Amino acid sequence: MSEQKQHVDIKRKLTLRQTLIDKAGSLPGAAYIPFIREGDIAAALYREKRIYGADIKPAMVKKAKARLPDANIIKADCDQYPFPKGTATFTLADFDSYSYPYQSFRSFFEGAKIGSQCILIFTDGQRQAIIRTGHYTTPGGEKKHLKTKTEKREVYNFYFNKTILPWFKEYIKPWHIVYITKYLRGPNLMYWGAVISKTNGKHPGRHAKDTGNIRPYKFDDIKKDKYIAHLAEGHRRGYAATMVGISRQTICDHIKADKEFRRRVSEAESDANDKVVNALFEAATSGNTTAIQVWLYNKDPKNWSDKRNIQLSGPDGGPITVQVDGRAKLLEAVRKYRERQGEAKEKG
Ligand SMILES: C[S@@+](CC[C@H](N)C(=O)[O-])C[C@H]1O[C@@H](n2cnc3c(N)ncnc32)[C@H](O)[C@@H]1O
Repeated sequence: MSEQKQHVDIKRKLTLRQTLIDKAGSLPGAAYIPFIREGDIAAALYREKRIYGADIKPAMVKKAKARLPDANIIKADCDQYPFPKGTATFTLADFDSYSYPYQSFRSFFEGAKIGSQCILIFTDGQRQAIIRTGHYTTPGGEKKHLKTKTEKREVYNFYFNKTILPWFKEYIKPWHIVYITKYLRGPNLMYWGAVISKTNGKHPGRHAKDTGNIRPYKFDDIKKDKYIAHLAEGHRRGYAATMVGISRQTICDHIKADKEFRRRVSEAESDANDKVVNALFEAATSGNTTAIQVWLYNKDPKNWSDKRNIQLSGPDGGPITVQVDGRAKLLEAVRKYRERQGEAKEKG
């Protein structure tokens, strides 16, 4: 898988989880992370919690431990819940398996102590087997074989609503679903999660607040530094928020209330912008015609906006060569632009 695709995939995984965390409000209690691999998700989102994690591969356990030194991470087959019952009260469990997360979930739900509110997250790749071979395992653990195309299509098309959801609702009783969300990656891989509660339909976050149990996810100085670093790399505010495990609303509140933080956000965004401006300028002065056009249209619109259809090319349609006076003109335009930016910054 390309690096860019992996980046998008992890971003979507983090967004799903952040949405659930935001919906639940900040719950006290521990996080169970089976299938932890190198701990990418745990490191990005769950550091506020006491983490109990496991993976079947010792190399993964070693890497995740190095990354999350405060967590309790062991080598284990997560199809059986690998910690003693009294270990902790869990308010989050993340079953990011390759294909079938429900064996692990059931053994956790039966073997661990679950908080009155809990976030549950699943990666489910069963649809592929359903449509290809017809052999699949229901979330309850029953092996099934669908023989005809029609049978396969029926189960495949309504897999979440007719197979997963009714089972889940029944299985988690006396908890009930407060919020549920899902998305597909490709046609077959389904990512979904739910906030469940044992209370009487109240929003779990508010309930926690009412009873004084709430412990907000802290947007402390370390997280602020990380957030600023993401912005300076050119990421947008929402994505940077997801990367540090803080809701967009919390970021907005801090931007409004904290003058110094507001200044740093603006500076980081401006730094990211400057990097692009510099790269564009380099490309333009090296003779890249698209860059020259973009630069002139944007930085010197008075002279160039009425010439947008002009095709820039060298003799016989070949590449353009930037003459000294052209380069000087560009440099002058950049100098003026930077001057204006500097003045604007000083005023702001
Ligand atoms: C999709 S990855 C999990 C990615 C992880 N959530 C992250 O944040 O990067 C699946 C992981 O499950 C592990 N695994 C597969 N079968 C397992 C089992 N039965 N018990 C424990 N770990 C298992 C693999 O070694 C692999 O590291």
